[in-house]
Amino acid sequence: MSVPKKLMLVAGARPNFMKIAPVIRAIEKRPQQFCHVLVHTGQHYDEGMSDVFFRELGIPQPHHHLSVGSGSHARQTAAIMTSFEPVLESEQPDCVLVFGDVNSTLACSIVAVKQHVPVAHVEAGLRSGDRRMPEEINRLVTDSISDFFFVTEQSGVRHLHHEGHAADHVFHVGHVMIDNLLYEVERLEAGPADAFGTASLKQAHEKFGVVTLHRPSNVDDETVFRGIVQALGTIGESLPLIFPVHPRTAACLERYGMALPQGVIALGPLGYREFLNLWRDASLVLTDSGGLQEETTGLGIPCLTLRENTERPVTVDEGTNKLVGADPDAIVANARAALAAAASSTPPRRPDLWDGHASERILDHLQALL
Ligand code: UD1
Repeated sequence: MSVPKKLMLVAGARPNFMKIAPVIRAIEKRPQQFCHVLVHTGQHYDEGMSDVFFRELGIPQPHHHLSVGSGSHARQTAAIMTSFEPVLESEQPDCVLVFGDVNSTLACSIVAVKQHVPVAHVEAGLRSGDRRMPEEINRLVTDSISDFFFVTEQSGVRHLHHEGHAADHVFHVGHVMIDNLLYEVERLEAGPADAFGTASLKQAHEKFGVVTLHRPSNVDDETVFRGIVQALGTIGESLPLIFPVHPRTAACLERYGMALPQGVIALGPLGYREFLNLWRDASLVLTDSGGLQEETTGLGIPCLTLRENTERPVTVDEGTNKLVGADPDAIVANARAALAAAASSTPPRRPDLWDGHASERILDHLQALL
């Protein structure tokens, strides 16, 4: 019997954790074919940004925790690379799987390629075309050196072909984050509805919206940030907005001495399940997150994205997402329009292969490739 292939999974920041959970579940169902080594770089480290996800999503303890913490892009990326190199040398995996577009994705893919370990990029090929976004640089560099590309939507396939990658290494597999979403929705539906601290908030408001905001382009610039908060206040006059505040955003609120307006209810960061239990019943989501644009499309919840561009165009073309930028008047007008339209519109379709089985497809391909 052949030895199981050793897959090293790299997770570092909050948006990675919900993507590795279903892949680990799929690996554990195939012990003859695969085993895994989990590396947590420590890019995110707070209980609310990291530990709660591991606990709630049933992710096993990482085999290696690099504890790199925060820092400038150069410092953080360098720290991840320096700490990851000896781990990779000692583990000698058959393949390193990196996820998404965070600094950990970039750092570990570079180290692995230089040690001649095949790199599989999960969520490959997405492009916003906006090189001021650190994530766009991470996507471009990671894809330029990866060996295998697992893609969530057709736009990603097109970009990778255009960039010259061999067609037989580019695989449209669907989305591991949607695997996790559908799995967790089912678990929530099977459990008690009032199990979360936010249950009382939901009960108190028959209709509500949910906000997340953390992109440097929206929160680091005081004028832009004030404009967005003012728009949230206007929307909040008729639709209460629940806003779990990211640490970067909390720091900006403090730095600029800003208070959130009435009608905007601030909370600390929420765990995955508690947050899902909140937004899945929202009338509207306003966000600048990448993942939430997709998850709202996955469940058919109207979403306004406070950005000028998206690397996930399928959410706009086929899903519930609309790009509205950061202009306060445009945010308010689009929120009103979305709320008025929601009542009458036909349910949007879930994009191709967003069916809960992307992780299995990835393993099928890796079985053939490695
Ligand atoms: C990172 C990702 C971004 C992702 C986001 C989700 C990159 C380049 N950016 O951005 O793509 O959408 O995570 O959250 O990888 N902090 C804490 N506790 C933590 C982590 C961070 O307080 O556990 C604070 C620190 O002050 C830190 C700041 O948040 O400086 C920003 O964290 P960082 O990881 O640099 O970037 P994010 O904005 O979180």
